[in-house]
Amino acid sequence: MNIEALKNEIYKLKREKNALIVAHNYQVDEVQEIADFVGDSFYLSKVCAERPEEVIVFCGVHFMAESAKILSPHKKVLLPEIDAGCPLADMVTAEDVENLKKKYPDYSIVCYINSPASVKAKSDVICTSSNAVKIVREFPNDKIIFLPDKNLGSFVRKQVPEKDIILWEGFCITHYKIKKEDVEKAKSLHPNALVLVHPECRPEVVELADFVGSTKQIIDFATASKEKEFIIGTEMGVLYSLKKLNPDKKFYILHPGMICPNMKKNTLQSVRDALLYERYQIEVEEEIMQGAKRALAKMLEMG
Ligand code: 13P
Repeated sequence: MNIEALKNEIYKLKREKNALIVAHNYQVDEVQEIADFVGDSFYLSKVCAERPEEVIVFCGVHFMAESAKILSPHKKVLLPEIDAGCPLADMVTAEDVENLKKKYPDYSIVCYINSPASVKAKSDVICTSSNAVKIVREFPNDKIIFLPDKNLGSFVRKQVPEKDIILWEGFCITHYKIKKEDVEKAKSLHPNALVLVHPECRPEVVELADFVGSTKQIIDFATASKEKEFIIGTEMGVLYSLKKLNPDKKFYILHPGMICPNMKKNTLQSVRDALLYERYQIEVEEEIMQGAKRALAKMLEMG
């Protein structure tokens, strides 16, 4: 089937099934193009909870679709490619959290949304890259264990020096590729460009940036800026919205390897199959569901 025919079939199936298609900023361009909403983890989790559609096709990775299911358990949440996972999310287990709680009983657990539901269920509150600083700052305990991303955690630690923050050792395999030397080289090649990076980058990369934010915050920053050139330190999927919203501006990706292999698994064909066969349905065990929902709801309540 050619691309136009595939797109038309997706629109037809979407109408017939009254489905909502959401896509993360890292999805391939053509998947972002057919989505009803495109955004970062926080924005999409809110959209899925607030919209009335009973079927959601989540074009992202497993923990994102799982979070949508937890926030709306009565909805049918579909992930087009069932093996689209997140190595960072898999770097911590529920057992690890249990052990941390025993070792540090006075600490509260702030868990990045890039984590399995079983870990969320044992956490006090969830955060995303767009609200991590606010959640840690405003959480009513000065002793925090932040997991699983050590880089986002160390960014938060710098912004909230008044709190005692213990970090876990997880990291994103894609953002980790960017080194300090890549930023120095990009800056010397494009001296007029601003450097915008995701907080999953190494601390020494974040240190050299002009702006640090979630994918949506990076897109919004570049769009609102009067500057014309930007060096981008996150997955290259963001270039779709950056170029579409800013045809007169120039964007340079910090590292050629900024491609998340899991995010790129979803295709137009798999979105069409997800709608047609109603697959792959995300399910979460009842007990885990309740605990994870409490921690996610706490995040939404704290903004
Ligand atoms: P966002 O919070 O920008 O959606 O980032 C999610 C993510 O997985 C980054 O690698």
